[in-house]
Amino acid sequence: MTFNPKSLFGRPTPRIDGVAKVTGAARYASDELVANPAFASLVTSEIARGHITGFDLSRAKAVPGVLDILTYETVGNQIKAPLGPDGGPTTTTLESNRIWHDGQIIAVVVADTFESAAEAAGKVHVSTMAEAASASFGAPGVEVQAITAGRPGEKTKGNQTEEKAAADAAFAAAPVKLDVRYATPPQHHNPIELFTTTCVWDGPNLTVYEPSQFMWGLKTATAKQLGIDPANVRAVSRYVGGAFGSKGNQTSRTAWIALAAKRLGRPVKLVPTRAQGFTIATYRAETRQHVRLSATADGKLTSMFHEGWEVSSRPSSYKVAGVEATSRLYAAPVIATAVNVVHADRATPGFMRAPAEVPYVFALESAMDELSYALNMDPIELRRVNDTQNDPVSGLPFSSRLLMPCFDQAAEKFGWSKRNPKPASMRRGEWLVGYGCASSFYPNNIGPAAVRISLAPSGKANVSMAAHELGTGAYTTVAITAAHSLGLAVKDVTVHLGDSDLPPVPVAGGSNNAATTTHVVVKACADIRQRLAEAAVAAEDSPFHSADPATLILAGGALRNADGLSEPLSKAVPRTGGRLEVYAENIPAGLPASAMAQLYNGHPLMSRGGNRKDVTAYAFGAHCVEVRVHSLTREIRVPRVVSAFAAGNVINPTTAHSQYMGGVIWGISSALHEATEIDPVSARVINANLADYIVPVNADAPSIDIIMVPENDDRVNPLGVKGIGEIGIVGMNAAISNAVFHATGKRIRELPVRAEKLL
Ligand code: MOS
Repeated sequence: MTFNPKSLFGRPTPRIDGVAKVTGAARYASDELVANPAFASLVTSEIARGHITGFDLSRAKAVPGVLDILTYETVGNQIKAPLGPDGGPTTTTLESNRIWHDGQIIAVVVADTFESAAEAAGKVHVSTMAEAASASFGAPGVEVQAITAGRPGEKTKGNQTEEKAAADAAFAAAPVKLDVRYATPPQHHNPIELFTTTCVWDGPNLTVYEPSQFMWGLKTATAKQLGIDPANVRAVSRYVGGAFGSKGNQTSRTAWIALAAKRLGRPVKLVPTRAQGFTIATYRAETRQHVRLSATADGKLTSMFHEGWEVSSRPSSYKVAGVEATSRLYAAPVIATAVNVVHADRATPGFMRAPAEVPYVFALESAMDELSYALNMDPIELRRVNDTQNDPVSGLPFSSRLLMPCFDQAAEKFGWSKRNPKPASMRRGEWLVGYGCASSFYPNNIGPAAVRISLAPSGKANVSMAAHELGTGAYTTVAITAAHSLGLAVKDVTVHLGDSDLPPVPVAGGSNNAATTTHVVVKACADIRQRLAEAAVAAEDSPFHSADPATLILAGGALRNADGLSEPLSKAVPRTGGRLEVYAENIPAGLPASAMAQLYNGHPLMSRGGNRKDVTAYAFGAHCVEVRVHSLTREIRVPRVVSAFAAGNVINPTTAHSQYMGGVIWGISSALHEATEIDPVSARVINANLADYIVPVNADAPSIDIIMVPENDDRVNPLGVKGIGEIGIVGMNAAISNAVFHATGKRIRELPVRAEKLL
């Protein structure tokens, strides 16, 4: 059957779940109706380091309606601790008397009502033996662990020490050089939907309703924690109210709520508080970074050295190691990197939208801006001089790289040519005006996946897969792919996601899901078309009897050929044996055949853009931003942003635009607003609420112009699809900070950039 997969995409399509979402019909995990639930409330630690020495539960138990109180003393040996975001050890909660961090779960109170549970949780008295806590960098007692290699499985360039010596030598010899340090703060995702868990047992079978970016991961990891067969666990999360990485890996709470429900013989529902969300889930770690760049007088980089330090918990060595990204951006002949984990008395950090790139690209792209001033060169021209079509680390070609076309289109629309290069030279009334720019990029990842698709004689199709709708538009991209592959209207396709009873799909992280889901859906649809065509050519009553099945197409709800013959699906589908249902699996090129079994086990392999053997696959983009800084108060505004991205085939321009725009807004937030404040003495979170943890509101989100630069990438994957969930935020913090420097002449190397730092 003739079929051009790339013709599937590019038509703006409203979200198919939009009406359900705005009318409240969409069921988020804690909205799922369960019979006669009891309610859980968490008791969390008020110290960051030490041990629990005892509980006084008498006042809590006296609250009417209290049913059970779980502590390490009563149930501590019944659950295995979850693994951290890197698959290694992490902090435990009720499993022992140890307190690893502020806000750690130390008891779960279950009661007849939400109110009783909350009241009783407040009356649990915990005695502790506190020890001096190390909050962050520079605190006594932190342990620094030097990591020379990057993320597991990713290539590093040879021997780090040799590279460092070569970088030192090139740096010493260069006519223009820059040696600077940057810092980024901890940040919390604060998705609107809280970190809820509802557990229901039916005999040996457990159903977990919990917002998750990985249904099969939640299923298998919960089973492992409870010591039961994964076949007995079902995880359901049909819609997720924001995740951004915070709902990507298992936390302790799931197994504890499951145990509570089992002890009680009744469903238990947990809706933790906003404040608890700051300590019971992961967050973006704070970093310190050292960047050294050297260049020739005409701007060609002669060396780059980038070292990072990241705070983690005591037991976890989770790190983002963003030097794996920054070392691939520019054609420096010598590149050396290093990463260190700093263990403190803190919760384990984890993934947060472009985990590696947001902090590390801030440092690199700030440094490039600083270098442009040292060279007296336009910052976009500096990027052009150092652009490359080959990965500077591996030497492999990029599958495609339209970094400079992105800059050119963004700069043109922005009016970059009107920029006076001199800092603090542009002014409008009382406001200092600054223009700044930065590169953006993100690797293209794709994983194995499975799907089940059925096509009815009515021309309606059903697509079922355990993929994830985090607000990204996943229902719609899956529907578009199936509809256009089967020659149907999008409205004729019903999509079921977010349920581990459906065929597995990897974690919705690393911007892989668009590529992952579309490829397997296309494969299943090809099977459907093939079966229809073969049945038709074999049937005497078909107009296509004895035709070559390869000449048939599926379009407009009918089987057709180029001569204008057609047969409706109401005839063609029954011929395949009634209901036409196919199951398909897809393993992307470069992954072993075992990848599917591993996915079913909850441990998906991923083909990562940075560690392929054939090409290096990244999407690229460019941000141009204008800031205004008030000449007296130093209030900072961002009136406009123009960002251009080249990310392969755009599946749905409507939701893609929202993804890019959301990334840009979060970039503004990351640059100017967000920081989790940690008390340096107690190592506790100070601003665990949305009044003090500042996020942007509409007035902070200016005119944002998104340009989608057309890109045809035949090498990234068969459909030419690159993920776009994360690239929008990457580099925005640097673009804004660079614009603030241009406006004021003051360089802020520590995020967030706030008025007080400019006074
Ligand atoms: Mo994203 S931080 O890869 O969920």
